[in-house]
Amino acid sequence: MKTYRIATIPGDGIGKEVVPAGQQVLSALASTTDAFAFEFENFDWGGDYYRKHGVMMPDNGLDAIRDKDAILFGSAGDPDIPDHITLWGLRLKICQGFDQYANVRPTRILPGIDAPLKRCAPEDLNWVIVRENSEGEYAGVGGRVHQGHPIEAATDVSMMTRAGVERIMRFAFRLAQSRPRKLLTVITKSNAQRHAMVMWDEIAVQVSKEFPDVKWDKELVDASTARMINRPASLDTIVATNLHADILSDLAAALAGSLGIAPTGNIDPERRFPSMFEPIHGSAFDIMGKGLANPVGTFWSVVMLLEHLGEFDAAKRVMQAVEAVTADTSLHTRDLGGQATTAEVTAAVCALLGEPAAAAARAA
Ligand code: IPM
Ligand code: MG
Repeated sequence: MKTYRIATIPGDGIGKEVVPAGQQVLSALASTTDAFAFEFENFDWGGDYYRKHGVMMPDNGLDAIRDKDAILFGSAGDPDIPDHITLWGLRLKICQGFDQYANVRPTRILPGIDAPLKRCAPEDLNWVIVRENSEGEYAGVGGRVHQGHPIEAATDVSMMTRAGVERIMRFAFRLAQSRPRKLLTVITKSNAQRHAMVMWDEIAVQVSKEFPDVKWDKELVDASTARMINRPASLDTIVATNLHADILSDLAAALAGSLGIAPTGNIDPERRFPSMFEPIHGSAFDIMGKGLANPVGTFWSVVMLLEHLGEFDAAKRVMQAVEAVTADTSLHTRDLGGQATTAEVTAAVCALLGEPAAAAARAA
């Protein structure tokens, strides 16, 4: 039997509620099979750790999780700590430290979800956004001078490398090729940003030659927001820079019905390091500690984690359980207009997976 070693990092806010829920689902799954087991190790990094130690995670933290098979992450963000500290001190430290350069964000309208677009059937919206996750606008290159003086100046330089663009383009073309429609849209802004984005476009053309069976087109990022709303079925796989995809993926999640549902994987495609899976919602301090968080984004992230481990049947079983739960509006959490709690949604998924303990509790 294979034992997968999983690091859990709940982080802040509702991350502390949804990550244990995700772990519960993985344990329920393991209890129904002899094929694999999980060995979890939890890390209490985040805002509370920062208040005690002055850092979001220990300096040698990456070494503690380097040998894991995958990481399940909650969220980083604390009302009392500046966002750039929580982000750079934890999530980006892991993403960049482990060179998880491909951020993958699938979006679909799940059964039972009331999505906001009038003229969009559920099957019209089935996208995967590939976000460049290691450089670009998030490279951290820049600085401030003359702080506090009238002549103060600040820069954030979007740094793009040929190697960085080539590898994300190749990843996106390969992903598009693996999907039934074999369709890729490359998002750009080379009409206004005339250096890095022009190189981005050129590299897209070069890499496309390796994938003659993939149909692809180019769309300006501003126009792509309108296209997502007016012609959702014209899109399938989408590749964009770090910041462009950050923005487009929130729009995608909202168009699919709720930010509480959307998952993401921070992937090292070369598997030199563990990849990290997380819901895209933030720490949501307004509802933390109340048991109201929607765990579906984490469960879908768990599906991506299982796929990454090569456990495709298990991934399918969890996705089917999640879809059965979203189809039942009595199991909708508050973000979906319902009243179900995190615990109720989690128990329902575990029961559908056939967990012996959940089945016994239901029969009692
Ligand atoms: C995301 C988030 C983060 C990002 C925030 C929390 C810094 O919005 O994962 O999309 O911008 O990368
Ligand atoms: Mg975002």
